[in-house]
Amino acid sequence: MKKIVITGGAGFIGSHIVDHFFGKYPKAEIFIFDKMTYAADIRNITPLIDHDRVHLVIEDICNLDACEKVLKGADLLIHAAAESHVDNSFGNSMEFTKTNVMGTHALMEAAMRCKVSKIIHVSTDEVYGEVLEGDVDETAPLYPTNPYSASKAGAEMVISGYIRSFRLPVTVVRANNIYGIRQFPEKIIPKFLMMLMQEQKLTLHGNGRNKRHYLAAPDFAAALSLIAERWKPFEIYNIGTDEEYTNLELSSMLCAQFGLDLNDCATFVEDRPFNDGRYALNWDHITELGWKPVFKFKEELPKIALWYKENFGRYEPVENLKREPSIGATKSNVVSIK
Ligand SMILES: NC(=O)c1ccc[n+]([C@@H]2O[C@H](COP(=O)([O-])OP(=O)(O)OC[C@H]3O[C@@H](n4cnc5c(N)ncnc54)[C@H](O)[C@@H]3O)[C@@H](O)[C@H]2O)c1
Repeated sequence: MKKIVITGGAGFIGSHIVDHFFGKYPKAEIFIFDKMTYAADIRNITPLIDHDRVHLVIEDICNLDACEKVLKGADLLIHAAAESHVDNSFGNSMEFTKTNVMGTHALMEAAMRCKVSKIIHVSTDEVYGEVLEGDVDETAPLYPTNPYSASKAGAEMVISGYIRSFRLPVTVVRANNIYGIRQFPEKIIPKFLMMLMQEQKLTLHGNGRNKRHYLAAPDFAAALSLIAERWKPFEIYNIGTDEEYTNLELSSMLCAQFGLDLNDCATFVEDRPFNDGRYALNWDHITELGWKPVFKFKEELPKIALWYKENFGRYEPVENLKREPSIGATKSNVVSIK
């Protein structure tokens, strides 16, 4: 592997993917292709960005010309860039369609022109829609229920077209909720940790009984590297976990990190316009490659809470979290492709 391009590499999951591939392929040049929206932070990729073989390209995946320039000579493309926050998608859905559908389209077109031989597209369990009972495997129909998941399903449809028409070598992964350090505190775990640190009441949507599965970011990154290693184009892999909690259970565990009781710390607020009750993946297919999650949520939580405590100053107070894009990118490996 000589050149790896990771879109969204300065965001939450992308930065864990960068960590993993940096260690796994010590000779590869890694290009982080990121627009640096509010969700990105150059500190997510520090200190790796100081290495000669890690480069940050600040560009928009909707820019076909930029995609082509970055992908020239790439052996592997991992596409993790997206507008990713469901709540935002109710108010600003056009931006979601632009980045998640058009951006994916531009990237796939560029990957085809550049003859990239391995492409991994990061999708989500949300494309299946609500799964109240049992679980769904990779053959289940897509039934997205909100503008975010619709845009992720739209991206998959574009990819399907490139696979069928041009045999573009793409593998799609659909993952459960992912947790870990460096997640922007708009998502439930970091948001609630930050709120508890500011002695604010946790605002639970609806009745708090919605369920989600939680997968550790390093486990997810390990799954991607296994997929790249044991490469089979055109596959779809659900990447899941057995760790399932209601928002109430999750919040209670978060409160316990501070010696607090949920009954004293939570308030119920109006639900999302539509809020899937549950997502559930059957992930037998990825286990055929020898993958299974290693990290345990309850063991990781104290470390994550500590990280947010130590990095509290990195983020604005929770109520001001709608930030303008900002980046202190002064490193010499921030490369211009213009
Ligand atoms: N967070 C989860 O629980 C979860 C679960 C399953 C799948 N996913 C998927 O994983 C991927 C990463 O999610 P995340 O939680 O790390 O998101 P994130 O919001 O933390 O990071 C997204 C990154 O993409 C970049 N980006 C956004 N628009 C861009 C554009 N137009 N051009 C270039 N870069 C752009 C941002 O700057 C940021 O660095 C997404 O595709 C998301 O749909 C996330």
